[in-house]
Amino acid sequence: MRRDYTGDLAEGKGVSAEEAVLGGIEPRSDGAAGRGFCIRCAQGERAVPPAGIFLQKGRHGRAGMGRYLSGKVKEFGVRALVVGASGGIGAALVAALRERGEVVGLSRREHGLEVTEEASVAGLLGAFEPGFDLVVVATGALVLDGVGPEKSLRAVTAEGLARQFAVNAVGPALVMKHALRLMPRDRVSRLAVLSARVGSIGDNGLGGWYGYRAAKAALNQLVRTTAVEARRTHPQSVFVALHPGTVETGLAPALRAGHPAVPAEVAAGNLLRVLEGLGPEQSGGFFDWKGEVVPW
Ligand SMILES: NC(=O)c1ccc[n+]([C@@H]2O[C@H](COP(=O)([O-])OP(=O)(O)OC[C@H]3O[C@@H](n4cnc5c(N)ncnc54)[C@H](OP(=O)(O)O)[C@@H]3O)[C@@H](O)[C@H]2O)c1
Repeated sequence: MRRDYTGDLAEGKGVSAEEAVLGGIEPRSDGAAGRGFCIRCAQGERAVPPAGIFLQKGRHGRAGMGRYLSGKVKEFGVRALVVGASGGIGAALVAALRERGEVVGLSRREHGLEVTEEASVAGLLGAFEPGFDLVVVATGALVLDGVGPEKSLRAVTAEGLARQFAVNAVGPALVMKHALRLMPRDRVSRLAVLSARVGSIGDNGLGGWYGYRAAKAALNQLVRTTAVEARRTHPQSVFVALHPGTVETGLAPALRAGHPAVPAEVAAGNLLRVLEGLGPEQSGGFFDWKGEVVPW
């Protein structure tokens, strides 16, 4: 529940009460206002809020999301949208974000969202009012209609490639197209698309997985191109492709066998931590779950 603040923030130590409410700030568990760090310069008066989400106006004169003094968990105290909320990673992101603020989850299973069809994407995203500070596109597939991934060139088919591109590249592009309207122009807003390291051309030493690799590489280019264009209308926007690591989900359990994987909850925490550390300067980049740049 939103609360009007008259605490530290309204006393000039942080953002005003009005800004706090506009920014979607939540009260600490003790009801007091919290103080944090400027999201741009990481400076600000340190305080130890026991729980909750807080904003700080740093020397940039801009309110930003704060973090706990422990430094272990930074918080998105904002309105978030997770597209693909029924997936392993998507559901874990929804759960993690729900702890911290307001989150809307959209999925094919629950809402009939078909990312490969623009009418479906436009219809569902068109129902929302602007003001999302974080959008995560967590849809995707490795095996489609029981097919894939291809082990050799002999297994490549026109239909298989087209299907991979539709789900892993076209779908997220359509989501970005219709989500841009939902992102604020006057403050930092982030949109992350779950890509995969195997989409890296520079990192491809193993071969195989033609369709998935190529579709993720195309996705990375679509994210980069969107970042360039969005910068003009949304100068503080952050559009990134993220590699979540190898995660225990329903994506393709058999193909994961033998490879170390992390639970989806751990992956979600990693992704949110990375995302919060990314600013407009990093927009258009490709990062892994540790926050390290992945080669194109
Ligand atoms: N798991 C990993 O190890 C790993 C590694 C690298 C990258 N990734 C990437 O991370 C993302 C999430 O993967 P995950 O592991 O969470 O997989 P997952 O558990 O299989 O979830 C996939 C999600 O995508 C949705 N989806 C698939 N096709 C769709 C379509 N045409 N329209 C709408 N929604 C669609 C699914 O919806 P339904 O529930 O309706 O099927 C589900 O919500 C994917 O992009 C994947 O490539 C995962």
